[in-house]
Amino acid sequence: MNTVQLTKLDKTVSGWMHDMQTHVMKRLTQKMTIETKSNHRDLVTNVDRETEQFYVEAIRTFDPQAKILGEEGLGDRVTDMDGHVWFVDPIDGTMNFVKQHAEFASMLAYYEDGQPVMAWIMDVANNQIVHGGPEYGVFLDEQRLEKPNLESLADGLIVLSGARLLYEQYGFPEIAKAALGYRVYGSAGISYLRLLTGRAVGYISYMKPWDFAAGVLLSQALGLTNGTIDGSTLNVLQSGVVLTANEKAFDDIIQIQQK
Ligand code: IPD
Ligand code: CA
Ligand code: CA
Ligand code: CA
Repeated sequence: MNTVQLTKLDKTVSGWMHDMQTHVMKRLTQKMTIETKSNHRDLVTNVDRETEQFYVEAIRTFDPQAKILGEEGLGDRVTDMDGHVWFVDPIDGTMNFVKQHAEFASMLAYYEDGQPVMAWIMDVANNQIVHGGPEYGVFLDEQRLEKPNLESLADGLIVLSGARLLYEQYGFPEIAKAALGYRVYGSAGISYLRLLTGRAVGYISYMKPWDFAAGVLLSQALGLTNGTIDGSTLNVLQSGVVLTANEKAFDDIIQIQQK
């Protein structure tokens, strides 16, 4: 895609997100329908579903060839990365959305024949978007972001998922102890935003494709390192423990994993 096409794509999708933001913030003042999915902590609301429906309709009109992988299942069954593939996490951090009305995100990512093209993560309550891609650069709204500095794990904050820390899985307690400090945000999107804007040195969590597709695309575009903790190749269609960090902190964490 050339710069003109990328700019058009960015403006179009950012426009959808701003429309979504207005709608979702209004919805927060109204009564929501809250249901559980796999367990009592896995929530979904009418707003998650209607936001995904809104994106799916917008994507299909804009890109009739789109294959859409959305968390709430309103898109397609996507089994390979051929052609135009869109990832949709309509509300990321549904628990925060329901309980705090803050620290939730909305994420979209677009790949063409397996190649990362562009992604968007919106901090909905603050109405800010980090958007961009490898050929375009990465921006926080209008401000271009630079690669965050190479702070080590011992000198920085690590963001991780609370459940894995609590149940002492995947070496998360050792990673948290080795860091200067750790943070748990309850939203993959907000976690990636902290990392992309240089407020943390890394983020590690067990995630599903829609949780990390946008974050790894933007991180890679900004020169951060992405991978799995068991050394297997990161596959954007496969759930697993995904680590994103600056290269120094990345090595620090992998070393802890190998001990
Ligand atoms: C969840 C959040 C949370 C992470 C969970 C995700 P959802 O996404 O990103 O931080 O720990 O693994 O499922 O379900 O609220 O979109
Ligand atoms: Ca969910
Ligand atoms: Ca979600
Ligand atoms: Ca999510």
